[in-house]
Amino acid sequence: MKIVITGVTRGLGRALGEWYIAHGHTVAGCGRSGPAIFDLRFTHPEPHSFDALDVTQPVKVGLWAERVLGVLGAPDFLINNAALMNAPAPLWKVPADEFAAMLAVNIGGVANVIRAFVPAMIERGSGTIVNLSSGWGRSVSPEVAPYCATKWAIEGLTKALAAELPAGLAAVPLNPGVIDTDMLQKCFGGGAASYPKPEEWAKTAAPFILGLGPEDSGKSASVGGFED
Ligand SMILES: NC(=O)c1ccc[n+]([C@@H]2O[C@H](COP(=O)([O-])OP(=O)(O)OC[C@H]3O[C@@H](n4cnc5c(N)ncnc54)[C@H](OP(=O)(O)O)[C@@H]3O)[C@@H](O)[C@H]2O)c1
Repeated sequence: MKIVITGVTRGLGRALGEWYIAHGHTVAGCGRSGPAIFDLRFTHPEPHSFDALDVTQPVKVGLWAERVLGVLGAPDFLINNAALMNAPAPLWKVPADEFAAMLAVNIGGVANVIRAFVPAMIERGSGTIVNLSSGWGRSVSPEVAPYCATKWAIEGLTKALAAELPAGLAAVPLNPGVIDTDMLQKCFGGGAASYPKPEEWAKTAAPFILGLGPEDSGKSASVGGFED
């Protein structure tokens, strides 16, 4: 399979990328961290490809997609994984620039990547778009209101997209569960260490994603099952 993953430099995106490559799939990934992208390029040469890219920049996302599509063709799976978490605080204490950055990455970035890749998937007539949601895209907790807002948005955006896609394509919002990543450490602190590591999570999550197709389009998925 040909798999595009955003936010592939660490955390869940990195673990998915490594699992897919280890199991014979071809991965094209992006993230902002130049050193991590260099490391991925060095470890996983062509046909895999890794680019230093900020998903909030639509022109650069378009150029990236053009190159990836030119080399690989339309992806079988487009995994919108890149996202930010706010520093825990009541909503009225979250600075405007932090709030805006979360909307730009967690919602705008997903739309930018969809705009750049989905026309080629429609042209081919197949492919699955998986947008990383969260438990906090279906429930709430105090001090993470900006994050909740973006992940509830991802549920709505993805289900509306599913209603727009032609037969043969799918769009699925996926709650990955709770995993010990930099993001989780930002909200749970030391408590994050008691949750599974990304590499362990990927052993179940990566094949589960590969099983998502048109029959699942528009359903809220969690690794291992569906909520509606
Ligand atoms: N961990 C959990 O328990 C959990 C639970 C529910 C949902 N999720 C969701 O799962 C996904 C992955 O989370 P994670 O825990 O792996 O987070 P993470 O450890 O913070 O990793 C986030 C990834 O996104 C990339 N990224 C952030 N901003 C970007 C941008 N503007 N452009 C391109 N890449 C960007 C980061 O790389 P750079 O810094 O190099 O750009 C990094 O590779 C997110 O959508 C998150 O909301 C995670």
